Amino acid sequence: MPDTPIVVRARNVTLSLGDGEARVDILHGIDLDIQQGESVALLGPSGSGKSSLMAILSGLEQASGGTVEVAGADFRSLDEDALAIVRRDRLGIVLQSFHLLPTMTAQENVAVPLELSGADDPFGTAAAELSAVGLGHRMAHYPSQLSGGEQQRVAIARAVAPRPSIIFADEPTGNLDRATGGGIVDLLFERRASAGATLIIITHDETLAERCDRVLEMQDGRIVSDSAAAS
Ligand SMILES: Nc1ncnc2c1ncn2[C@@H]1O[C@H](COP(=O)(O)OP(=O)(O)OP(=O)(O)O)[C@@H](O)[C@H]1O
Ligand SMILES: [Mg+2]
Repeated sequence: MPDTPIVVRARNVTLSLGDGEARVDILHGIDLDIQQGESVALLGPSGSGKSSLMAILSGLEQASGGTVEVAGADFRSLDEDALAIVRRDRLGIVLQSFHLLPTMTAQENVAVPLELSGADDPFGTAAAELSAVGLGHRMAHYPSQLSGGEQQRVAIARAVAPRPSIIFADEPTGNLDRATGGGIVDLLFERRASAGATLIIITHDETLAERCDRVLEMQDGRIVSDSAAAS
């Protein structure tokens, strides 16, 4: 598909944290293009840099070097506020730890970001999204009253509710049993199909990786294999 736009473009992206003796080089020159509508699985051993790369591509962390362009925005040229707007309006992010707001119910966690971006009927949409992840009966519960898997599903509902053009998910099925996890993955793929969204999923699950158009494998802060390059 040569005419499909590139929605993620990373060039020589590096990440180093800490100084002097404590300095850790985490990413070593990542080059990556992802097309609109692609589904991409990101695999690799624990500590290989998957979450770090996702944090950079989703604008949550700044690269130490290189360039990152996502959804048409050059991240280096944006300040924190502009970056937050790109994230809010175009990106759906499900983190490895869910980052739900503890003082808000499940429904509020999903509705408030929608409200901030000016959506119609944020609470109605939140209710529909929570039902779609099987949590219609848990809307008034606070995160502390939900199991890990339920919190994960709230985080997924929150990420997909604004219909983002790129969905980033860090081990979205990590805390779910096979049946629930399968349902969540179906939902992510269905959202991708209906909205033409791009889906980037970190996973250790080979079956999930096989459902994706493309599989990237990381090792020691580098992409060591890319199924798109092989085909
Ligand atoms: N704030 C930090 N300061 C120093 N090192 C860090 C920091 N965050 C992550 N690292 C290191 O960066 C490396 C990559 O971490 P990352 O979380 O990206 O791995 P991962 O591939 O997502 O692993 P997992 O599968 O366990 O989630 C690890 O060695 C980790 O210890
Ligand atoms: Mg990780």
